[in-house]
Amino acid sequence: MAAFDQAVEANGARIPLLGLGTWELRGRTCARVVEQALRLGYRHIDTAHMYDNEREVGEGLRASGVKRSEIFLTTKIWPTHFSPPELARTAKECLVRLRQTEVDLLLLHWPNPNVPLSETIGALCKVKRDGLARHIGVSNFTVALVEEAVRLSTEPLVCNQIEVHPFLDQTKVAAACRKHGLAVVAYTPLARGRAMRDSVLKEIGKQHDKSAVQVALRWLVQQGIAAIPRTEKVERLSSNAAIFDFTLSDDEMARIGALAHPGGRVVNYSFSGAPQWD
Ligand SMILES: NC(=O)c1ccc[n+]([C@@H]2O[C@H](COP(=O)([O-])OP(=O)(O)OC[C@H]3O[C@@H](n4cnc5c(N)ncnc54)[C@H](OP(=O)(O)O)[C@@H]3O)[C@@H](O)[C@H]2O)c1
Repeated sequence: MAAFDQAVEANGARIPLLGLGTWELRGRTCARVVEQALRLGYRHIDTAHMYDNEREVGEGLRASGVKRSEIFLTTKIWPTHFSPPELARTAKECLVRLRQTEVDLLLLHWPNPNVPLSETIGALCKVKRDGLARHIGVSNFTVALVEEAVRLSTEPLVCNQIEVHPFLDQTKVAAACRKHGLAVVAYTPLARGRAMRDSVLKEIGKQHDKSAVQVALRWLVQQGIAAIPRTEKVERLSSNAAIFDFTLSDDEMARIGALAHPGGRVVNYSFSGAPQWD
């Protein structure tokens, strides 16, 4: 049985270590996968205004019958909506689409160098104070931007959602987050298919009677990093969650960490200028 209640504590938030990613999930598939994930025990769902699936995510939530208070729901605001009036308007639109009165976590989806961070963070804090989001945070923020955001924010920031998987070294930004009490939430935790094909992950999995996917996810949660793998296949939800009944040894953790290499990043997108990943 998966321990869906295992969570990372971060500046007052309790973020379940395993969540469901929903990027590219659409229509009935999206609603069905969200519903089934919640029925199976998942308690953390990740969406974004830009995914254009918040309506279906909301449908899945309601269809599951799981009490709203038991679910940790995250959405994100796209950087074209970072001016304070736009941010407030978009946050309200997210809630209308989701048919919710608040989300558990509202994130700035990517840094936007064209809008002063002080203004955007100020607007994000106001959205929280107005009761639209229980917690706030950032995504795709570098070490320098995490420092700046923490300095500017009058409300606690609880997470930085970033790409993390065995093929990418994110120790510096993770350390900056830890220093300020922010959780790291790992997106693209399976490196969009690469994890299942990796021979080291497969070999370590054999020792534990687990798959390469389960080893990749275990490596994250064992470090206190939340992971939000996406699948559109209901039959994969259970196996992706069966990661709380085994432990990787220190040596195995180190071998997996050593898979990181400079070209390991999967998401090479950047909004108006490349972020400095230092
Ligand atoms: N903040 C950001 O900027 C940002 C950026 C990217 C992603 N995200 C979030 O992070 C979530 C996860 O990242 P992602 O969607 O990019 O990639 P991912 O979770 O690393 O990989 C998803 C892929 O893995 C496959 N998969 C899942 N479970 C599997 C299994 N047990 N065996 C084999 N294949 C499996 C899925 O295929 P099937 O569907 O066929 O199972 C899908 O093609 C997103 O959905 C989104 O919520 C956030």
